[in-house]
Amino acid sequence: MKWDKKEILALDRKHVWHPFTQMKDYEDRDPPVIVEARGTRLKTIEGQLLYDTISSWWTNIHGHLHPRLNEALKRQLELLDHVNFSGFTHPYATGVVKHLLDFLPSQLSRFFFSDNGSTAVEVALKMAFQYWQNQGFTTKTRFVCLENAYHGDTLGAVSVGGVDLFFKLYKPLTFETFRAPSPYCYRCEEGPSLTLSAEHECSLRCLQGLEEILTRHHQEVCAVILEPRLQAAGGMLVYPAAYLKALKELTEKYQVLLIFDEVATGFGRTGTMFAFEQAGVVPDLICLAKGLTGGYLPLALTVTTEEVYRAFYADYLEGKTFYHGHSFTANPLCCAVAIENLKIFKEEDPLARGKGVRARFHRLLTDLFAEEPYVGDVRFVGYVGAVELVADKDRKEPFPVEKRLGFKIYMNSLEEGLVLRPLGDVIYWFLPLCVTEAEVEEILTLSREVIRKTLKGGFKSG
Ligand SMILES: Cc1ncc(COP(=O)(O)O)c(C=O)c1O
Repeated sequence: MKWDKKEILALDRKHVWHPFTQMKDYEDRDPPVIVEARGTRLKTIEGQLLYDTISSWWTNIHGHLHPRLNEALKRQLELLDHVNFSGFTHPYATGVVKHLLDFLPSQLSRFFFSDNGSTAVEVALKMAFQYWQNQGFTTKTRFVCLENAYHGDTLGAVSVGGVDLFFKLYKPLTFETFRAPSPYCYRCEEGPSLTLSAEHECSLRCLQGLEEILTRHHQEVCAVILEPRLQAAGGMLVYPAAYLKALKELTEKYQVLLIFDEVATGFGRTGTMFAFEQAGVVPDLICLAKGLTGGYLPLALTVTTEEVYRAFYADYLEGKTFYHGHSFTANPLCCAVAIENLKIFKEEDPLARGKGVRARFHRLLTDLFAEEPYVGDVRFVGYVGAVELVADKDRKEPFPVEKRLGFKIYMNSLEEGLVLRPLGDVIYWFLPLCVTEAEVEEILTLSREVIRKTLKGGFKSG
């Protein structure tokens, strides 16, 4: 295919508004134009290869243009493109359910389809709220969420979000919540100087604030929502599975629902199919999206228990219907790819295959970064790793925001064949499950060079 780079960039500059982007940053620079992708790499219009080190915003699982996923999509194009999912069903949606049931604990048995992670969260919030309303517990209207939480950009998801940089301005548009402290091990007074795997022994002091909220307000609370094991957009904050275990006991004690947002962590990213498995607990609701189709197409699910479902099941005139739905609910093209994605997990077991890769990834993160003068913290879980850059390591003091260090590292990484899109001054890797040990080694070695050189001012944007 012959592309006209000049025309693409001119149209983009004149008419396109990109997500989570200050467009003025691109006043005198162009974004890379991506025209192809294979496996772990993206290809620019000039033919430059870039490691997709953030799995295309945390979606890609088995690599780009996977032959089995491609075939599944082509097959589906001969059968059914789309049909509304209210009043109809189809084997593509039930196929997704059938395969997912094999990966989920038996209690999670009711599936509500939608088409992106924020919506899966909105659905979970409305379900949790209405679960109590339908049973006459009218005071239970509020949610407990965490500082540094990110659950999406729609207003319900923003209401339970805790990253002030993204959400502060929209506060007047959102509903009130109880916000509990974040399990941010690196900045915990008890924590070790380096978090590493976040599996160190600790007293879970960070859970005390949440417990106090539940003790005092449980009659007003319908649910607690959080990202299990990893607060992703909040800075790739890895925290111990023991936190989830203790939290589950609290939610049972105080009779509030527990929602795990697995939008970022699901489908193997943390080393198990779902992050909550690592804690051996079962929540009342989970939210899935991103990796559900292997990162190909927009599809999401909110999965809940029979008990929650039963609270809505009544004669029509009782007014207990769940009024929620979207045009593209359970789109068959997306479902067909999701089924194939789940079959790959079953038949090829990428998580077992990737055990050595994950161990090497974790070891290399420690070996290459822990002693670097500006690396305050190294943390990792599964295919996710992060380093938090600080101006003063002893005092854990951040770099001044005006320095825009993370952004500069990102810009420089693109020149070196990587996508180190930062979260503030946290540089992270969110790798696909198909990554090899050799690729991990190349990615991390190159990343360290980019970070070092940027800090020394060795790039144009250093
Ligand atoms: C934990 C979590 N929840 C929800 C979302 C929102 O998903 P989407 O971008 O598909 O709306 C994200 C997106 O990054 C996420 O990380």
